[in-house]
Amino acid sequence: MQPSMLEEIVQNPNPYPIVSEVQLPEVWQLCQQARDLAWDPAKIDYSDLAKADLPDEVRRAGAEWWSLRAWMEHGATPYGAERYREAVASHQPFEVKQHIVNFIAEELRHHEASFRVAGAIGGNVADYEPTPRADYFQTIIPKFHDEKDEKSMSFFGGLAVNTLFEQLSGELLQARYENARFESIREACKLILRDEARHIQFGRIVMRRFFSELSTDEKAMLGAKVSKKLRGSLLNGVYAVVNLPEDERKRSSRNRALAAEYGLGATHPDQEMGIIKAALDKIREDVAPWNVPIPAIPEVDGVQKAAA
Ligand SMILES: [Fe+2]
Ligand SMILES: [Fe+2]
Repeated sequence: MQPSMLEEIVQNPNPYPIVSEVQLPEVWQLCQQARDLAWDPAKIDYSDLAKADLPDEVRRAGAEWWSLRAWMEHGATPYGAERYREAVASHQPFEVKQHIVNFIAEELRHHEASFRVAGAIGGNVADYEPTPRADYFQTIIPKFHDEKDEKSMSFFGGLAVNTLFEQLSGELLQARYENARFESIREACKLILRDEARHIQFGRIVMRRFFSELSTDEKAMLGAKVSKKLRGSLLNGVYAVVNLPEDERKRSSRNRALAAEYGLGATHPDQEMGIIKAALDKIREDVAPWNVPIPAIPEVDGVQKAAA
């Protein structure tokens, strides 16, 4: 039967040939590590948070903060699904597809650990927030990964750009781990960081293997995408609060500061920009051998100038 003009035709990618021979042994090694190091967010004991002596406003601030973290982790999953689809369509080797599937599952468990922490901190006064209260968040979070941007890069170029952000968020999470004074939060952060280290390692392998083949134009575009994404979404309340609308910036900063003060695995807003600046400098150093220029980001690069 011919599909009618009004029916939506689903464009499934042609999966053939399906490559099963390992071409990137280092990636396969990461896949095996992922199997050995799997963990279950439901098995972490969050009762220390329920029992803690915390003022109500701190519980509310902590639940809000960990809800934000949960949404952020979830934001990586639609991105991963698109990359999996592309990996099938472009007949990538088995281990690349396996890594992407692991990535999706791991980001989902980071999401789960985060919403469990949010619920436990909230106790009787607050809960995990399934929907952001502020409208701008509802629009910003789905923009973490703009498919138009992703599709303008080559498959491995795009994967490498994502890794640069995983490095940045990893540095922030490290500081949040160090801030945490509750065993359950420390455990969750530690396990998430261990997964993130593998995601970052994947990006390093990809860079080593594929960056030398990129044209100068594509390198310039990759760098520009990094700046754009950082400014356009991640400084708007996700990595830092700097680009939020004024009133929301004040409210959000105060809550983050409260969560940090009580050791709930948060960073003080004053601390965040310094961490991002240091991480961005490190990223610039990492990509320098391949001549990928990351344009100046005034909100971030201005910090050092102001301090000098
Ligand atoms: Fe994650
Ligand atoms: Fe990740």
